[in-house]
Amino acid sequence: KQITSFDPGFMNTACCESTITYIDGDKGILRYRGYPIEQLAEKSNFLEVAYLLIYGELPTATQLETWQERIMSHTYIHVTLMDYMKSFRYDAHPMSMFIATMAAMSTEYPESNPTLTRRDLFEFDHRARNQQIFRILGKAPTIAACAYRHRIGRPYNYPTESSRGYSYTENFLYMLDRLSEPDYRPSPAIAKALDVLFIVHADHELNCSTAAMRHLTSTRVDPYTAVAGAAGALYGPLHGGASEAVVRMLEEIGSVDKIDEFLSGVKSKTRRLMGFGHRIYKNYDPRAKILKEYAEKVFAEVGRDPLIDIAVELERRATQDDYFVSRKLYPNVDFYSGIIYRACGFPLDMYPLLFALPRIAGWLAHWYESLREEKSAAKASIPGATHVMRARQTYVGDLNKE
Ligand code: CMC
Repeated sequence: KQITSFDPGFMNTACCESTITYIDGDKGILRYRGYPIEQLAEKSNFLEVAYLLIYGELPTATQLETWQERIMSHTYIHVTLMDYMKSFRYDAHPMSMFIATMAAMSTEYPESNPTLTRRDLFEFDHRARNQQIFRILGKAPTIAACAYRHRIGRPYNYPTESSRGYSYTENFLYMLDRLSEPDYRPSPAIAKALDVLFIVHADHELNCSTAAMRHLTSTRVDPYTAVAGAAGALYGPLHGGASEAVVRMLEEIGSVDKIDEFLSGVKSKTRRLMGFGHRIYKNYDPRAKILKEYAEKVFAEVGRDPLIDIAVELERRATQDDYFVSRKLYPNVDFYSGIIYRACGFPLDMYPLLFALPRIAGWLAHWYESLREEKSAAKASIPGATHVMRARQTYVGDLNKE
């Protein structure tokens, strides 16, 4: 049968309806559940935003307290997972370790696998789903911190006791850095900047890794395996690798007087200006605006990174240059995120993981939505909505070689 709709790269195909994230790329607008990203970055913390994305409403003060308490009491990982992580090569990439360990979590919680439990595939058990959300959000930073400690050849740290009241990002920084004093608390300015970075990365509608999450979810695989699969998509340099590429580019430019020479290379198409341009945004990416401001706040705490002066001047010249203006190329989220990671002392190979950690909230929101959607679609009998996602191809090979 001839397939008439040929859309490689999904440039023009919607495969689901969603109420999670709204983007107007021409106007540079990003909203989670109707709330502008600028407002959330200023007034909320990451876990509050994760709640909003997953459940659709901002939590009340009591709901937020319970939500934070549940997640922060799930931060410990089983000692067998730690032993598993210790078996990786000394120089294993943190993102590879994270993907493998997240997938291994499904072996710790076999009740999440419908094949093993023989439960009704359409059953929407809120309690079980919430338990999986608490575990994944709670344990992901611990796995990431162990991967980092492994990478730098230091012993793994345990999370803080939830009774000590550390925020999600404070606890993560604590596990990365914990010094010998038991009361070590990360710098509030760095914790806030990381929280804002987490908020702006939490969701971005149907980007490649989120589409992968929905694809995997449609098979009803357990969520640990699905999150590991989505993280695999994000690991690719065309998705989660741009912030690292920006830092490498700025390091290579090296000083403000080399910017014009670099831009000439971009305009003659021998180079790309990394951190510029976006498939959806044809205006300034609102996330880049927020991060530019936060970069200054981090520098006030840790000292100014000379790369910021090159970045700001590069942006000024590019946004006044007809090559970039006529193509609607503006800074995207990655233009300033890498400079902040660098100033906070993260090594380059942690950058994709720093993107993946907050994006888990978005993946889980799409997972939760698509499972509910499937259940209601099953009732409303919308064709395709309850099926395994399965794209079609146009066969162009030989038909008969008998
Ligand atoms: N530097 C120089 N020229 C560019 C750039 C750039 N960064 N981006 C696009 N162009 C040019 C491109 O050469 C083309 O010119 P022409 O019409 O003369 O052939 C025109 O702009 C349109 O480009 P395109 O490749 O059709 O645009 P796209 O929407 O397919 O690509 C992109 C989007 C993000 C892949 C691209 O802009 C790019 O490679 N940017 C650099 C990498 C980067 O920063 N990636 C992070 C994206 S944000 C991540 C997120 O939101 O999660």
